[in-house]
Amino acid sequence: MNPLDHVAIIMDGNGRWGLKHKNSRNAGHKEGLSTVEVVIKESIKCKVKFLTLFAFSTENWKRPKNEINYLFNLLENFLVRKIDQLHKQNIKLKIIGEKKFSKNLNSLLNLAEKKTAKNKKIQLNLALNYGSKLELVNAFKQLKKNNKKINEQNIEKYLYTKDIPNPDLLIRTGNTKRLSNFLLWQASYSEIIFVKKLWPDFNNNDYKNIIKKYQNTKRNYGAI
Ligand code: IPE
Ligand code: IPE
Ligand code: MG
Repeated sequence: MNPLDHVAIIMDGNGRWGLKHKNSRNAGHKEGLSTVEVVIKESIKCKVKFLTLFAFSTENWKRPKNEINYLFNLLENFLVRKIDQLHKQNIKLKIIGEKKFSKNLNSLLNLAEKKTAKNKKIQLNLALNYGSKLELVNAFKQLKKNNKKINEQNIEKYLYTKDIPNPDLLIRTGNTKRLSNFLLWQASYSEIIFVKKLWPDFNNNDYKNIIKKYQNTKRNYGAI
């Protein structure tokens, strides 16, 4: 059985779910939050050590202002309401991406990271204003600035994910088969599962079934 240390998820399909059920994309984002809680809980049960959730990409700024504002308000409220609970559950929160938001949200995110920094049960990486290409460009710039050799080890030291193992399993919901600039370097040997269901419809059983399938997959890494 394959060990499962790190699961990364592209939580896609909120907008379509919201339009279909409540005639509002934003309603889908709100609904998607409950799936986030379900997946955190099940990940802990399955002893996953790192869970990375793609919440906002560097390309998502192209969306209408009203949707962007809604998303960040949702995140702010979620943090305000849940940070103590996450902390009590021994969850460590880490933001990956460029933390360039409102003053309020920036300090809330910093506070949440600081408060939970020593927690050990699971590390929850929230990919926010995250773009894999930007991450790599920044890493190369740092290497150049510090006069470091360009090799795999050094590149990894300058990624947001330094100290985080590569994802074993990468899941994308929402019936679309693409990576959308997510963890392009880190996912080079991840098992990738595309799910037809929209994120708010994704449930515990779907997740458990994927994990079971993953555990029985033969991982070759180029060997036989
Ligand atoms: C993913 O759901 C969540 C974010 C990008 C924040 P979408 O909002 O992309 O939902 P669809 O793909 O439009 O249905
Ligand atoms: C990827 O979903 C980003 C997140 C889930 C946060 P998108 O909905 O933005 O991806 P594209 O634009 O359809 O590729
Ligand atoms: Mg989408």
